[in-house]
Amino acid sequence: MKIIRSVASLRRKVNEAKKNGKTIGLVPTMGALHAGHISLVDRARKENDVVVVSVFVNPTQFNNANDLATYPRTEEADCEKLEAAGVDYAFIPSVKEVYPKEDTRHFDLGAVAEVMEGAMRPGHFNGVCQIVSKLFAFAQPTRAYFGEKDFQQIAVIRRMVELEGFDLEIVACPIKREDDGLAMSSRNVRLSAEQRQIAPNIARILRESLEYASSHSLQETKQWVIDNINAYDAMEVEYYEIVDARTMQPVKEWAETESPVGCVTVWLGDVRLIDNIKYNNNQK
Ligand code: PAF
Repeated sequence: MKIIRSVASLRRKVNEAKKNGKTIGLVPTMGALHAGHISLVDRARKENDVVVVSVFVNPTQFNNANDLATYPRTEEADCEKLEAAGVDYAFIPSVKEVYPKEDTRHFDLGAVAEVMEGAMRPGHFNGVCQIVSKLFAFAQPTRAYFGEKDFQQIAVIRRMVELEGFDLEIVACPIKREDDGLAMSSRNVRLSAEQRQIAPNIARILRESLEYASSHSLQETKQWVIDNINAYDAMEVEYYEIVDARTMQPVKEWAETESPVGCVTVWLGDVRLIDNIKYNNNQK
């Protein structure tokens, strides 16, 4: 595996590969890699000739300075994992390399980016689009891989691809979970031992809500999930929305969508965890 720190060098490598008719799989990450990221790399490895993984904590998508400052940075361990996973190029640029001058671009993402994370974290999705569009321009991927834990992010990136006319495939990959059900996340390392024990209840309650939903209305199901999570003193739901999987717009009744997805954000102390669950479309 080659570590690349400059945009020019990455461009040279991908141009050469493309000239030789090779396909390129890109896995954008912010590092602190875990098995969830590696599952994206494995999929990219299977489907492409060349795999590029970017490791970059993108400052423009953080709307909270403390979150940016405390975001885990583990470059050496990340490189070992990427090397073992058979990655060709790890792109690990500095902030200056990616943003030689301030990125003032504003993406007109519309309704898909206005709800849930978009409402709670102003500017977050614009920052995600700034970095992801740059990575697409630098790496010119045939396919780019994203985890469904950040379900709304994938819908927003699809919208950005449509707006900007990128010619590539967005591949959405299933959430990777710990044995106890907790969705893998770089932020999990910030949980105390006690919080780590409580956190898997989020996934358990979401899973059990599938059964509850089969005999209850959407509104009842929504409230049931919120009440059950909030029943833990240590946890507080920031939002739980059941939305259409494509538009991300909240729905009021099961019949309103063919693909309802429940998206939750929970505060456990000062750690913000997100998770989601797909309901089927034959609920009551
Ligand atoms: O999902 C993430 O880790 C980030 O939002 C991404 C897509 C790597 C952009 O910085």
